[in-house]
Amino acid sequence: MIPIAILASGRGSNFDAIHSAIQSGKLAARITCVLSDQPSAEVLEKAKRAGIPALVEQLPAGTSSPDQRRVKHDEAIVRALETHAPHFLVMAGFMRRVTPTLLAAYRSDRGYSRITNIHPSLLPAFPGMHAYSQAYRYGAQIAGVTVHLVEEMIDSGPICAQESFAIGDCRSEAEVEQRGLAIEHRLYPETLAWVLEERFEIEPRDAVVSGAITPHRRLCVRPN
Ligand code: GRF
Repeated sequence: MIPIAILASGRGSNFDAIHSAIQSGKLAARITCVLSDQPSAEVLEKAKRAGIPALVEQLPAGTSSPDQRRVKHDEAIVRALETHAPHFLVMAGFMRRVTPTLLAAYRSDRGYSRITNIHPSLLPAFPGMHAYSQAYRYGAQIAGVTVHLVEEMIDSGPICAQESFAIGDCRSEAEVEQRGLAIEHRLYPETLAWVLEERFEIEPRDAVVSGAITPHRRLCVRPN
């Protein structure tokens, strides 16, 4: 059972999906703790009900620069997670851009971060907040979901899995989100099953195509 920590800022429906996949034996992992930057996040109550330690680490207030505060925050997160010893951090709606401090603490000796994220679009389209709404308002006919390893730039890093779905007939942003979440709740646990076991290789840096919109290395799945 690979020990993981879930990092989330809100509702926690992906926490529910991952927790259920573990309970039903579909995912060989153990959630050692849930950490949120929002004390009132619903995900914390869900964790407590499931008997999982629920931790809060808020972005520190102060007069230092936002970058310095983010580094301090990541240092506090690393310390808070230490006793729970997760091998991977699984971000699920964690509304914070990470700094090299967190990435370094979970850096594998094969060069990537042992931190995953799920983003509600086909990256590199629609990074940032409210990606389902962005796709709907743009008039996109196809939306999607991406699971990726985390790097410092927002919503970037080697892509582990992507799935698209048609939204041309959707009549509201909520309808797009509803379709997307149904995919997320299946795709994230399914993808974690091989990502947590690190059954992949990463292309070397010099294989990156220069001029790509978000240049980063490609993740190549290693056959079982
Ligand atoms: C999901 O749409 C996820 O893709 C995005 O934030 C949302 C989190 O939802 N990163 P929940 O808290 O897991 O319900």
